[in-house]
Amino acid sequence: MPSSSPLHILHIDSSARAGLSGRDRHGSHTRRLSRRFIDTWMERRTMDVVTYRDVGQKPPQPVSGDWIAAAFCPPERRNAAQQTVLAESDQLAGELLAADLVVIGAPMYNFGVPA
Ligand SMILES: Cc1cc2nc3c(=O)[nH]c(=O)nc-3n(C[C@H](O)[C@H](O)[C@H](O)COP(=O)(O)O)c2cc1C
Repeated sequence: MPSSSPLHILHIDSSARAGLSGRDRHGSHTRRLSRRFIDTWMERRTMDVVTYRDVGQKPPQPVSGDWIAAAFCPPERRNAAQQTVLAESDQLAGELLAADLVVIGAPMYNFGVPA
């Protein structure tokens, strides 16, 4: 049974297709499904808070050599460029750690989830 105190929900969509099936031409089924889940949930629990991330339309930067060097550098020795290169993944990891519930709309691409 969910708590009566506010929960923090992280809603992630990952389809490369924009729009919703049933509404938009060639729209995404998984976006439609995850949105329906969130809408239904929020009708029942209006106090909860949703953070939305669309990694299909706005994919995060892939891991690079600079990212690895920065991530393995002790935080107190990181320079400004290294802090910049880690900012996006720090933000995304923070959102994940802050979430009580994670809802992911994920298509199957080549027998797996999108990169
Ligand atoms: C590049 C690509 C790879 C896919 N690979 C698979 C697959 O391995 N197995 C499967 O059942 N469907 C596969 N599909 C079909 C998708 O899972 C299906 O179109 C799904 O609706 C995509 O999610 P979306 O509607 O949210 O975009 C693939 C589709 C694409 C575009």
